[in-house]
Amino acid sequence: MKFFIDTAEIDEIRPLVDLGLVDGVTTNPSLILKSGRDIFEVTKEICDLVDGPVSAEVAATDYATMVKEAAALYDIAENVCLKVPLTPDGLKTCKHFSDQGKMVNVTLCFSASQALLAAKAGATFISPFVGRLDDVAHNGMSLIQDIRTIYDNYNFDTQILVASTRHNLHILESALIGADVATIPPKVVHQLFKHPLTDSGLAAFVEDWKKTGQTISG
Ligand code: E4P
Repeated sequence: MKFFIDTAEIDEIRPLVDLGLVDGVTTNPSLILKSGRDIFEVTKEICDLVDGPVSAEVAATDYATMVKEAAALYDIAENVCLKVPLTPDGLKTCKHFSDQGKMVNVTLCFSASQALLAAKAGATFISPFVGRLDDVAHNGMSLIQDIRTIYDNYNFDTQILVASTRHNLHILESALIGADVATIPPKVVHQLFKHPLTDSGLAAFVEDWKKTGQTISG
């Protein structure tokens, strides 16, 4: 499963790139707002830092303006992946660009039937929002399972990009289901390292090593 990082903060992405954990990045208008940066400048910096797809979302909601914005966003770098909302205009924009072989991420997906429409429009990625579904007492992960089943039934190429992930279990269950990608907030990536037995085991090894009085030199 690929890891995309769900942030527009360069300082959060860079250390994860150094760890070899970054297969791509996703942004959205709220994350751009939070960064306080200009969308073109920050997207260019992220694209230079990361080899994989970097999702940049349109702001418009009508087809004609989305197409204009898309052209400007795709111009930023080769690895820009356009992000459009799951609306009729968004899917028309998706089809327009996927027909040209460009990457498109369809966002704000909350049902399996919406995911079916995105695949038929040629989306590269579908972004079902599991955390926001959990927030309203729906089962976010069962949506991922349903989309996996539908896409496998018909051999759709669209990749399932699990979005709105909030904790460790969302990532683990995504991998068990066979999602193609999870986009993960940096703090959740750091949580994935954590296990109390790793911490206590390491502390014991460090203490015992000191007692040996030995050093390891090359
Ligand atoms: C990423 O593509 C989505 O926009 C993001 O995961 C949404 O996350 P949120 O529900 O935590 O805002």
